[in-house]
Amino acid sequence: MSSKFYITTAIDYANGTPHLGHAYEKVLTDVIARNARMQGQAVHFLTGLDEHGQKVQQTAQKENKTPQVLVDEVAVVFQELLKKLNISNDDYIRTTETRHKTVVQDFLQKLFDQGLIFKANKTGWYSVRQEQFLNEKDRDENGEWPEIYGEVTITQEENYYFKLSQFQPWLIEHIQSHPEFISPNFRRNQVLEFLKEPLNDLCISRPKSRLTWGIELPFDPHFVTYVWFDALTNYYSAVLPKNLWPADVHVIGKDILSPPHAVYWPCMLKALNIEPPRQLLVHGWWTIKGAKASKSTGNATQSMAFVDTHGADAFRYYLCREMTVGQDANFSDDTFNTRYASDLQNNFGNLLNRLLNMVTRHYQGLIPQVAADEELEKNLRRLWEETLTKYQAFMAEYQISHALEALWVFISALNAYIETRAPWKLAKSTAPEDRARLDSCMAHVAEGLRLVSTLLTPVMPATCDKILINIGGQPAQTFKNQLTWGHSCTGQKVEAVCILFPKIEPTPEKPA
Ligand code: ME8
Ligand code: MG
Repeated sequence: MSSKFYITTAIDYANGTPHLGHAYEKVLTDVIARNARMQGQAVHFLTGLDEHGQKVQQTAQKENKTPQVLVDEVAVVFQELLKKLNISNDDYIRTTETRHKTVVQDFLQKLFDQGLIFKANKTGWYSVRQEQFLNEKDRDENGEWPEIYGEVTITQEENYYFKLSQFQPWLIEHIQSHPEFISPNFRRNQVLEFLKEPLNDLCISRPKSRLTWGIELPFDPHFVTYVWFDALTNYYSAVLPKNLWPADVHVIGKDILSPPHAVYWPCMLKALNIEPPRQLLVHGWWTIKGAKASKSTGNATQSMAFVDTHGADAFRYYLCREMTVGQDANFSDDTFNTRYASDLQNNFGNLLNRLLNMVTRHYQGLIPQVAADEELEKNLRRLWEETLTKYQAFMAEYQISHALEALWVFISALNAYIETRAPWKLAKSTAPEDRARLDSCMAHVAEGLRLVSTLLTPVMPATCDKILINIGGQPAQTFKNQLTWGHSCTGQKVEAVCILFPKIEPTPEKPA
């Protein structure tokens, strides 16, 4: 019996090109999705593109094309990134699709019919960059509008408002009684802190005089809906025909937790009598030289050149290993090159090649049987049991960097085991017990590699497939019956060499 697991990423804004932050969120979600699939869950993985709003309209105008032409072009670029990173999403939603627009309009109409949307004429501070009205409490300690709001102007407008404030007591209660709803926990505390202040009702319309590129309000054709109301609904509209709601996990960055995902979205759903999502998994920011990677920092796009030079798997590994989920992390060429050389080439890749080399040299390429079982082998198997338990516990909490750290302890132990056994010495000995030790050493390293590659398949799918095929198995589709020590590689034929992580000449850094 497999359980449903519906996971999403944020949908990327269509007014720019993909950067490191976008790539990371897809990789993180992909690793969780692939891991759940291998555990036998019925996974549905959704990602997509957020295509409406003022910024898209402005960019299209500047580029002298229609917004639809612009977003069609952008959608191609974002989807190419998914392919390049080997992302296994099951669906891709674009907010200009009919399947989405009809649900947004249905939501709006239902709220309107229930009296939860009202019209009001308000004068207020409006941020064009954030496409929202601001409140006095949005000012910084000096009374200025923070930089993130860009230009702020006084605007007087008739608009429609959603009675968000009405749901505040319910929301607080929900967050308090569902500790898993916002992860990590310190983010949950921040949201509860934010909810100590009374919520304002949410302006959910924009007059067409100002913005036409949006979904029309079904009850007033002079308005389109606010881009966040539109965007958040994607998670629901995409799976409505499949009956997969509620989402198990929404993976998002910290900048869009509160208020959009932690406040607007659950309250919208509550008002519509729909269950909230089960969990918001909030990751931090990638920074480059200390500044948030974003579309305006060119090197955030340039950092992705590592995918071309070092391959998607090395890039996926780096992102997962270097960022503790929830915290910020800094991307640098140096740390990338160090991880590539030490973790991948010298530790993981080297282990495979030592095995292939010895099995080719001493066993005509056929992995031998275990013949001696001594303390060294017993320790190795015990370490595997411990590693597996740790790895799975970390993965269950989506603490992927810690899971990888634990797994690399085991990979190092396999290399250390080879050194202690010194097979090059055993091979010279004529004593039968030394031959038995040599056999066992080959069989144990092969089995260790099989186990590591199976467990690691969600993080480095192409690399692990390659290893598993090379040591005589098949790509791992499931963890079931595959993670216990069993010597299923015995008798398999291996190739003489298999370069997983080729040596790469460093590209000279371009002057800034
Ligand atoms: O926010 N590091 O789109 P977006 C890590 N359309 N993650 C980052 C990042 C960085 N430097 N920069 C951005 C939007 N992200 C909306 C979402 S969802 C209904 C609508 C993450 O293209 C960011 O936190 O600005 C978000 O989760 C995702 O990339 C898309 O950001
Ligand atoms: Mg953003």
